[in-house]
Amino acid sequence: MKKLSARRRHPLAAVVVLLLALAATGGLYAFVAPTGKAQADETAQSLAIDEGKKLYAVGCASCHGTGGQGTSDGPSLVGVGAAAVDFQVGTGRMPAATSQGAQVPRKDVVYTQAEIDQLAAYIASLGAGPNIPTEAEYGPEGADIAKGGDLFRTNCAQCHNFTGKGGALTHGKYAPSLEGVDPKHIYEAMQTGPQNMPSFPDTILSEQNKKDIIAYLDAVNGDDTESPGGLELGGLGPVSEGLFAWVFGLGALIAVAVWVAARTAKAKKS
Ligand code: HEC
Ligand code: HEC
Repeated sequence: MKKLSARRRHPLAAVVVLLLALAATGGLYAFVAPTGKAQADETAQSLAIDEGKKLYAVGCASCHGTGGQGTSDGPSLVGVGAAAVDFQVGTGRMPAATSQGAQVPRKDVVYTQAEIDQLAAYIASLGAGPNIPTEAEYGPEGADIAKGGDLFRTNCAQCHNFTGKGGALTHGKYAPSLEGVDPKHIYEAMQTGPQNMPSFPDTILSEQNKKDIIAYLDAVNGDDTESPGGLELGGLGPVSEGLFAWVFGLGALIAVAVWVAARTAKAKKS
C-alpha cells in the first residue's frame, strides 16, 4: 500500500493519467466522429446535386436535354464528369451562345464557383467521369519544369506552339493561347479534351506528367511580376540583359580604372 501511494505522488503520475485520458477521448472521438462526418458530407452532396439540377434546367437543358441525354443542339453530358463541367463553365465556354461559329470560345464566366460546383455535382450524378482535380494534383509542389517542357513539346506544341502562345488549326478552328489559364483548367483540359483537342487520360500522361506540364507553362507564361532571380530588366531577354551587364559591368571597370589612376597619381605626388 505504502509503495502504491508513494508512486501515486510521483510528479510524473499526473502527466501519465492526463495522457491516458487524452488517448481514451481521442480514440472514442475517432470511433464516433467519422460516421457523423460521412453523413454530413452525404447530405451536403445531395443538396448540391439538387441545386445543380435546378441551375441546369434553366441554363443548360435547352441544348443538352432535360436529363443530360443531349439534343441536336448539344452533346450528351452523361459520363463527361465534374471536370468537364468545371472546365467548360469555369472558362465561360458554357453556356454556349445559340449561334455558334467554328468553335465555342472562352467568354466571361456566367456562374459563381459555388454554382459551377453544383452543376458539376449534378452532371457527375448522371454518370461517372473525371473529378475536379485538387490543388495537390495541379499545384507546383514536386513538379519538374524541365520534364514538363519535354512533355509539352512532344504532346501539345504541334497545336499550341512551343511556349503555349496558341495557333490556328484547319476550318477556322484554333488552339488558344495558354497564357494566364488557371492551372486547374489546364489540368481539366488535358483530362477531358475539349472540342478538337485530344484528351490525355492518366494512362497517356500520368498525374505527375500533367503537374510537370502545368509547372512548365507557368514558368514560360507566368505572371510578369514574378521573375525568378530578382529584377526583370524589362523582360526583353538577352538584349536588355546583355545591355545591363554591359553598362553596369563597364561602369564598374571604369570606376576601378579611375580609382587606380587616382591612387597612382597621388602616390607619385607624395
Ligand atoms: C446553346 C446551346 C448550349 C447551351 C445553352 C449549353 N451548352 Fe454545353 N455544349 C453545347 C455544345 C454545342 C457543346 C459541344 C461543343 C463542341 O464540342 O464542339 C457543348 C459542350 C458541353 C460540355 C463538354 C462535353 C464534353 O464532351 O466534354 C459540357 C460539360 C457542357 N457543354 C456543359 C454545359 C452546361 C453545364 C451548360 C449550362 C450552364 C451548358 N453546357 C449550356 C451547347 C450548349
Ligand atoms: C490537336 C491539337 C491539340 C493538341 C495536341 C493539344 N491541344 Fe489543347 N486545345 C486545342 C484546341 C482546339 C483547344 C480549344 C478547345 C475549346 O475551346 O474548347 C484547346 C484548348 C486547350 C486549353 C484551354 C485553354 C483556354 O483558353 O481555356 C488548354 C489549357 C489546353 N488546350 C492545354 C493543352 C495541353 C497541356 C496539351 C498537351 C498535353 C494540349 N492542349 C494539346 C488543341 C490541342
